[in-house]
Amino acid sequence: MTAQLINGKEISQQRLAKVAQAVEKRAADGLHTPCLAVILVGNDPASAVYVRNKKLACEKSGIKSLSYELPASTSQEELLGLVVELNENSKVDGILVQLPLPPHIDSQAILEHILPHKDVDGFHPYNVGRLAVKMPLMRPCTPKGVMTLLEAYGVDPKGKKAVIVGASNIVGRPQALELLLARATVTVCHSATQNLSEEVGAADILVVGVGIPNFVKGEWIKPGAVVIDVGINRLENGSLCGDVEFDAAKERAAMITPVPGGVGPMTIATLLENTLHAAELHD
Ligand code: GUN
Repeated sequence: MTAQLINGKEISQQRLAKVAQAVEKRAADGLHTPCLAVILVGNDPASAVYVRNKKLACEKSGIKSLSYELPASTSQEELLGLVVELNENSKVDGILVQLPLPPHIDSQAILEHILPHKDVDGFHPYNVGRLAVKMPLMRPCTPKGVMTLLEAYGVDPKGKKAVIVGASNIVGRPQALELLLARATVTVCHSATQNLSEEVGAADILVVGVGIPNFVKGEWIKPGAVVIDVGINRLENGSLCGDVEFDAAKERAAMITPVPGGVGPMTIATLLENTLHAAELHD
């Protein structure tokens, strides 16, 4: 069996087109143009690429973006000062601080200063808590993008066994809450998990986000599983690969996301959906 490819690029383009339509309609109705402020600190090359893609997607969908590119030497106080200024700026609907931040900055303290209704990443503990109590406000972009992909491909998590590999604040933990909300039975695996291959082998829906190339072996995957690979790893030869052994996995899975062109574009489309939502909250 060769798995059906889950085309995140195509679904993300459909979602971006919907955002663009909604932005146009807002203008026709005399409502303000949504505005996203993006903050990048330092010169991590991968972060620079992600931020550029986020700004390009804003342009394409008619969302205004403000860009703050700060040196790696920026102090905690300076960054907090910028966040507070953007919180107070009534023209700004969403604030995104690209992670990771330089090690001298307390990332959590910065994220906790973003007003929850401007927190388009959904990382503020208020938004994490809202998701945990089944009342989401701003939902973290990557896990929400994964749910959009599952829905687009007719995969209903209800009653299925979902296994997540990786328990990060950006992917694994909020993904567990999203899948729980969708009524899956959820297992979260992490670096202390024993018998990882067995846990993975039980998954009807497998979501992997660990940042290690080819970490999950194709032979671990249950035949017929839906495999969502969140990893984007750059190899020494410059090519990109995911956290799952793609070639072997696609021989067992029913559906699988490629890297690139799977989850990555969905994260960006969801960010713009969240920015539109933030603008609606702001009206
Ligand atoms: N770094 C890696 N993924 C993300 C994300 O979704 N949002 C932000 N702000 N930083 C990231």
